[in-house]
Amino acid sequence: MCSKNSPIGVFDSGMGGVSVLRKLCRIMPGEDFIYFGDSINAPYGTKSKEEIKELTEKAFDYLRERDCKAVVIACNTATSAAAKYLREKYPDYPIIGLEPALKPAALSMDYPKVLAMATPLTLKEEKFLNLMAQYEDKAEFVKLPAPKLVEYIESGELDSKEEIAYLEEILTPYKDGKVDAVVLGCTHFPFARKTIQKILGEDVLVFDGGLGAARQCRRVLEGKNLLNGKEEGGTVIFLNSIPEKTAVAKKLFYYKG
Ligand code: DGL
Repeated sequence: MCSKNSPIGVFDSGMGGVSVLRKLCRIMPGEDFIYFGDSINAPYGTKSKEEIKELTEKAFDYLRERDCKAVVIACNTATSAAAKYLREKYPDYPIIGLEPALKPAALSMDYPKVLAMATPLTLKEEKFLNLMAQYEDKAEFVKLPAPKLVEYIESGELDSKEEIAYLEEILTPYKDGKVDAVVLGCTHFPFARKTIQKILGEDVLVFDGGLGAARQCRRVLEGKNLLNGKEEGGTVIFLNSIPEKTAVAKKLFYYKG
């Protein structure tokens, strides 16, 4: 049975959710976390919605079996494909999802041009299209899938020559003031934040949903009286469907960037 002292489960297709885990640990340093990366099945973003839904439910069950008091689906793609279904199935269980930060980007200035980077699945899903429709009168959105970036981050080789060349190639059309803001709508992408900022220019505003999701998690747990009440000393256990990959997750957790 889970209680206030149970851990919080955090899940992603692989390494991306570590960018959210860092924010969760920062705002709830006394909580314990179990991070599960499903690297054996990564990437999710090029799979079908049905496949992603099944994989997400399996990972969700795995974390619940480990007595997690809440699960953070630290993956925009898995959230699009499965969060609604899981919330309907477990209406009383805290499930926190990720969504591309279109709202803060759209409201950041007067009718900005916003580049929305995400996986192909996220960009074509109803959840994203509805969110975009909500802010269409406030901003112009341009969608940019970046599936290869997931693979570079997944390997743990950050800022490699190949990764930088790929980003140069896909971002060049938006350089030199052609966009005002960029949304990192995939939890892997914050690990390439510096390079993206450098290519697009220092004036371009960069948004990601990690901190918002971490705050939402704290609010939900507070509302259910499930915060453990400790101010520090929380622990993190890293698990992965490819056990050797836990070393990569740890490396990204301590990445200074
Ligand atoms: N990290 C995931 C997201 O936020 C997707 C990566 C993948 O394609 O597996 O969308």
